[in-house]
Amino acid sequence: MQNGLQEPQTIVLLGGTSEIGRAIVDELISPTTRTIVLACRRPDQAQPERFAAEGRTVDVVHFDAADTASHEALVTDLAARHGDLDVVIVAFGVLGSQSDFDDHPDAAAEAVQINFAGAVSSTLAVAAQMRRQGHGRIAVLSSVAGERARATNFVYGSTKAGLDAFAQGLGDSLAGTGVGVTVIRPGFVHSKMTRGMKSAPLSSTPRQVAQVAVAGMKAGKHTVWAPGTLRYMFIVLRHLPRPIFRRLPI
Ligand SMILES: NC(=O)c1ccc[n+]([C@@H]2O[C@H](COP(=O)([O-])OP(=O)(O)OC[C@H]3O[C@@H](n4cnc5c(N)ncnc54)[C@H](OP(=O)(O)O)[C@@H]3O)[C@@H](O)[C@H]2O)c1
Repeated sequence: MQNGLQEPQTIVLLGGTSEIGRAIVDELISPTTRTIVLACRRPDQAQPERFAAEGRTVDVVHFDAADTASHEALVTDLAARHGDLDVVIVAFGVLGSQSDFDDHPDAAAEAVQINFAGAVSSTLAVAAQMRRQGHGRIAVLSSVAGERARATNFVYGSTKAGLDAFAQGLGDSLAGTGVGVTVIRPGFVHSKMTRGMKSAPLSSTPRQVAQVAVAGMKAGKHTVWAPGTLRYMFIVLRHLPRPIFRRLPI
């Protein structure tokens, strides 16, 4: 259960090595935190010691987002071993490269399987568990890339558009159940996903994203932009005529 200060006892990170996800865990941790689950496709990379503390369990489990058939059993097992799942962060994803996707459509389908199908399947399993509990918060890492697909990364953008729409609908479907969904829409974040890439305007660090994300989650917000200014920027960008949008250096 979360206490009166919205401090969770049990935090699950799907995508246990995600830099943004781990920064969100850091921001959520309090003396109340008893269990942290790092669900990773490569458990050997989890570095659980980073979150270790007296009286706290850090559990590393194998999780492959693409293996949708395994997700329900994983969530059931976590609840059986750790009790109620107070906060679950859906932080896994692949960016890929548009030119690779153009040349290898099967790689594009794989990214869709991870970013969209995998997120739908795992998040629905989490939502069912939280509905049974009668409480919980799901944080979903969407992206501004899903607000309007760009020619330079439209496969990734389309997976985030699908994920964002799914998470919004899920949040509405859970109204009144005690379970909430916060959709987080970061812009360019300096993490291993973007290493070596040219930074975009209004870029941020995982810690900066985590600070606004956790403030929004604790306030029960359904959507958080990181940084907040992006919300207003995209009100304009979303409505630009396509020939102009196409030429923007973003
Ligand atoms: N960085 C940005 O600019 C940015 C902006 C907006 C939104 N986002 C979104 O924020 C989320 C976190 O990104 P990040 O910046 O923290 O990047 P990151 O550090 O590269 O994290 C991505 C995570 O996804 C995991 N992953 C990839 N494929 C997986 C699979 N098949 N099964 C399970 N896990 C898998 C990775 O595991 P491995 O460590 O094993 O690869 C890693 O834990 C992603 O959904 C991303 O799309 C990122």
